[in-house]
Amino acid sequence: MSNDSSLKEVATDRGFRIGATLNAQSLRNDPSYWKTVRNEFNAITPENALKMGPLRPARNTYDFTDADAIVDFGRANDMYVRGHTLVWHNQLPNWFQAWEYTDEQLETFLRDHIHTVAGRYRATVDAWDVVNEAVADDGTLRETVWADAMGEKYLDRAFRWASEVTDATLYYNDYGADAVNEKSDSIYTLLSNLLERDVPIDGIGLQCHFLGDRPAPESIAENIRRFQELGLDVQITEMDVAFTAGDAPDDRCQEQAAYYRAIAEACLETGCDTLVQWGVNDANSWLRQFKDFPERYTDDPLLFDDNCDPKPAYHALTDTLIDG
Ligand code: G3I
Repeated sequence: MSNDSSLKEVATDRGFRIGATLNAQSLRNDPSYWKTVRNEFNAITPENALKMGPLRPARNTYDFTDADAIVDFGRANDMYVRGHTLVWHNQLPNWFQAWEYTDEQLETFLRDHIHTVAGRYRATVDAWDVVNEAVADDGTLRETVWADAMGEKYLDRAFRWASEVTDATLYYNDYGADAVNEKSDSIYTLLSNLLERDVPIDGIGLQCHFLGDRPAPESIAENIRRFQELGLDVQITEMDVAFTAGDAPDDRCQEQAAYYRAIAEACLETGCDTLVQWGVNDANSWLRQFKDFPERYTDDPLLFDDNCDPKPAYHALTDTLIDG
């Protein structure tokens, strides 16, 4: 591989999955967006289209339009497709709040949702974030509508229901647990208990949203290894690197590139073979979506700038995958 090979070429050449998160609107309307994805990535994740809220405009209705468009794009370009996410406390349907359900009704609803969604993409989605962010930042089980109705066992049931309708690999996905810390300790215990109970879980997704905070890559590697020692696959599922607004280093693009390189090296060192960035280019980053974020973080966290031109981080990642 030479230095003018694309990120996709150098990654594919060494059996590494380099991915991006897609939104259907940009995929439909922005040629530079989908060309960048097609030419530079071999894996994708729908950013919102496979979440319960967007999929369920009404209690007995599904809208797969955006999800199908993204998954079909992935298949048409021979990409690895990650499904995100079957069970989450966020982005619940608008009608959900008003629904006065019994615990049994909620359990039936969730089972049918998982069977329908994961079943539909049985042949086209390679991996699922079955449960997302079930652990609160203090390490306890997050209080959610699912935990309220079924306790911790909602995780057992969600993974079993998914495994009944798809052969995709099944992940637990979370943030703030990328390195060895109190939250990843709690998740380690949670997943160990699931495995003890023969729950069909295949791996963990470390989101790796580095917003102002950049843990030591050695600690991330150690964290990856301990989950691998449990027999779990580990993927980096939502990476981006932003600095605290007002405290960003002058050469932040170089600092950002160095950190992307360090995380890629930790992947190669541990055999973690999948790294997905949360977005395609800076202009479409979720950090630009939320009004209060600008005063909190720099808003250029990805490998491509607003014009889909590669940044130093892109070259750092490509070089690491060539030389590493
Ligand atoms: O689609 C509606 C649109 O019809 C409406 O006009 C508009 C205004 O309210 O909202 C649009 O929905 C927004 C959706 O993004 C699509 O743009 C939601 O309000 C907004 O909440 C949603 O934000 C997503 C966020 O998850 C929700 O928590 C972000 O795009 C998405 O990047 C972000 O992703 C999460 C991962 O799923 C889990 N890990 C953290 C990550 C970042 O927060």
